[in-house]
Formats: sequence, structure tokens, C-alpha cells
Amino acid sequence: MITIRPVRPEDVDCVAAIEAICFPPAEAAPWGALKERIAVFPECFFIAETVGIPIGFINGCITNSSVIYDELFHSTQHHVPNGKNLAVFGLDVLPEYRRQGVAAQLMNHFIQTAKNDGRSSVILTCKDQLVHYYESFGYLNKGISKSTHGGSRWFDMILTFD
Ligand SMILES: CC(C)(COP(=O)(O)OP(=O)(O)OC[C@H]1O[C@@H](n2cnc3c(N)ncnc32)[C@H](O)[C@@H]1OP(=O)(O)O)[C@@H](O)C(=O)NCCC(=O)NCCS
Repeated sequence: MITIRPVRPEDVDCVAAIEAICFPPAEAAPWGALKERIAVFPECFFIAETVGIPIGFINGCITNSSVIYDELFHSTQHHVPNGKNLAVFGLDVLPEYRRQGVAAQLMNHFIQTAKNDGRSSVILTCKDQLVHYYESFGYLNKGISKSTHGGSRWFDMILTFD
């Protein structure tokens, strides 16, 4: 059984290890950035675990911007606690636990959190091959993002609540 729970400070080593497995070095958030995010806005960070072992996570911040911009990744100062939109920085699931809906559980939890907190939307950037996956949650593709994070091409996606 998979459980989704809020992050805890002691998760940082595990989370950094999962991030390094899931993303290439140019895209992976380093240990220090993850530690700071967990310290400053833990309410935007959730862990998926099975039998008490973390196997994936979703994290982000709050912003009034309707699109992700690269500075959001690099400084926790861009977090606006009472902002309109919940931004997704990363969605990670360890390879051996993929294709069982773990990421979907994390995403649905994140979306529900945004709704419960009265946000207007959830925003994210993703690569071409995952556009259809996020569309399945109701996200709209706004086209190519200004983000050049890790030197890749990204698409801006937004899920707006009525
Ligand atoms: C993307 C990721 C989070 C999905 O995790 P997951 O738990 O396997 O996701 P789910 O089980 O909810 O959904 C699986 C679906 O995602 C889509 N998907 C996942 N990876 C894909 C890829 N590389 N290309 C195309 N579709 C993909 C498919 O639709 C897949 O469904 P299928 O198994 O029927 O083909 C996981 O593969 C991962 O951690 N990847 C590396 C990090 C990453 O790219 N994160 C997303 C960008 S922020």
C-alpha cells in the first residue's frame, strides 16, 4: 500500500538520493536546495512511501506567476505564502515503483491540497513526452516555456480551478 504524507526534515537525504536517480545532474535539485525547500515551505512537499520507505515525492512552492520561471527553482525567496498558484518543481518515483500510479497519487494529492488551500491553479513545466500524461489530470498545454532549466525544452502546463 502506498501512503502520501507531508515531508519531514529528516527525509532530506532520502529525497536527494531519489532526485539524483530520477533526473540528470543538470536538472536534479541538489541536496542543499531540497533541504532549504523543506525548511521554508514544507507545506508544498509530499512523500510517497510504502512500508515506511520513501519511494517518490512531489514538491513545489506558491507563486502569483501563472508560469514557472527558472529563479523559482533556485531561491526560496520567490515563494509567496498567500499566492494564487501552486507550482510543481518536480515529481519523482523510483524506477522500480513506476507505472503503478504512484505519481498519479502524488499529483492528485497536490491538486487537492491546492484546492483545499483556495489556490486558483496548479502550474508545472514538463518535457514533450509527458504533456499527454499531465493533460490526463486536466492540465492545459500553454506551449513552449521560457524556462531553459537544465538546457532542455519545456512546456508550460496549467490546471485552473473553477
Ligand atoms: C514521470 C514519473 C514521475 C511517472 O511516475 P509513475 O509513478 O510511473 O507514473 P504513473 O504510474 O502515475 O503513470 C505512468 C504513466 O506516465 C506516463 N509516462 C511516464 N513516463 C513516461 C515517459 N518517459 N514517456 C511517456 N510517458 C510516460 C505514461 O502515460 C505512463 O502510463 P503507461 O504506463 O500506461 O504508459 C516517473 O517516471 C519519474 O520519476 N520519471 C523521472 C522524473 C521525471 O521525469 N519526472 C516528471 C517531470 S517533473
